[in-house]
Amino acid sequence: MERPCVRTRREAGERTRTTLAEADLVDESYQIVVDDGNIYLPVTDADAAEREGFDVVYRDVPAHDTQRTPADLLGFDPSYERLGDVAIVDETDPGRAERIADAILGSDLPVRAVLDRASKVKGDHRVRDWTVLAAEDRDGRPPTELVHREYGFEYVLDLSTVYFSPRLATERHRVTERATAGERAVDMFAGVGPFVVPMAARDATVVGVDLNPSAVEYLRENARRNGVEKRVTAINGDVREVATDHVGGADRIVMNLPHSADDFLDAAVTLAGDDCTLHYYDIQHEDDPFGPGERAVREAAAAEGYDIEVLTRHVVRSYAPHELNVCLDVRLSR
Ligand SMILES: C[S@@+](CC[C@H](N)C(=O)[O-])C[C@H]1O[C@@H](n2cnc3c(N)ncnc32)[C@H](O)[C@@H]1O
Repeated sequence: MERPCVRTRREAGERTRTTLAEADLVDESYQIVVDDGNIYLPVTDADAAEREGFDVVYRDVPAHDTQRTPADLLGFDPSYERLGDVAIVDETDPGRAERIADAILGSDLPVRAVLDRASKVKGDHRVRDWTVLAAEDRDGRPPTELVHREYGFEYVLDLSTVYFSPRLATERHRVTERATAGERAVDMFAGVGPFVVPMAARDATVVGVDLNPSAVEYLRENARRNGVEKRVTAINGDVREVATDHVGGADRIVMNLPHSADDFLDAAVTLAGDDCTLHYYDIQHEDDPFGPGERAVREAAAAEGYDIEVLTRHVVRSYAPHELNVCLDVRLSR
């Protein structure tokens, strides 16, 4: 069966497999193939692997003999995404959705619940509605709660109460790798902590703020789970109000609320120290993806006497036809 595979020289196979495993990209359902000096490692997400800089090709790889796949049971290969021990489908026909869900649970995949997206992400908390198509008993845990692994960290979260997207893993890694020991970082829209935890693991002192009480509970639990709770302060509230208690202390600020981050730039500038790096996420038309954000940051920064230097203009991903999710890394100094 043709699957997306990372192709690398045989000598680099083990190193590549480890990097892919850390990013939770290894597709365990298929076998690794060695052919003509190259090794082909099946991956769960071709786009994410490409963003990591790997050479992705499609080729026939055998399924693990011992594993009964959903395709074996259905006679076709259904599309689904895995997050921890939950499988997520995006189906419009309820009958087909249920058949796929039954096949996923009936297969040998380590999946305990199958969910269908029932709405877009919405509201201030950016949470979507879900339909539980099938679920096995999970020791009293809700079918929507799961543990996700990303770059060596573990995050427990409930998809029905918090925002989470595994598709941003590479981007989070790009940003959090820049955190340095001793710096003071603020994640203004922290969610369950996928920016906060890796920055704290690099010995930064991190304040994570979120309006959603459930996200903050999971953020605290994830800080403990990953052994970084001593360097993490988790605050439930509107970051505009929280900012007035943390004036001027931040060396680094993450603003991952791309549809409305510009409304919070005054709070970001309040939080910023005299030399601060801002990671500003935005969603804009492809014709001018960085201009509006750059102008908004410049205006808010100038009002408080900062000069700005744009360090990186980075396209994170395509968001919708002609719309891009982008990040501006900006240095504020005064
Ligand atoms: C797009 S999510 C990002 C979460 C996290 N950074 C991640 O990558 O998973 C945005 C988060 O901002 C939070 N939020 C929205 N408005 C807020 C506000 N005024 N103050 C603090 N947090 C807010 C939402 O509850 C949500 O968890």
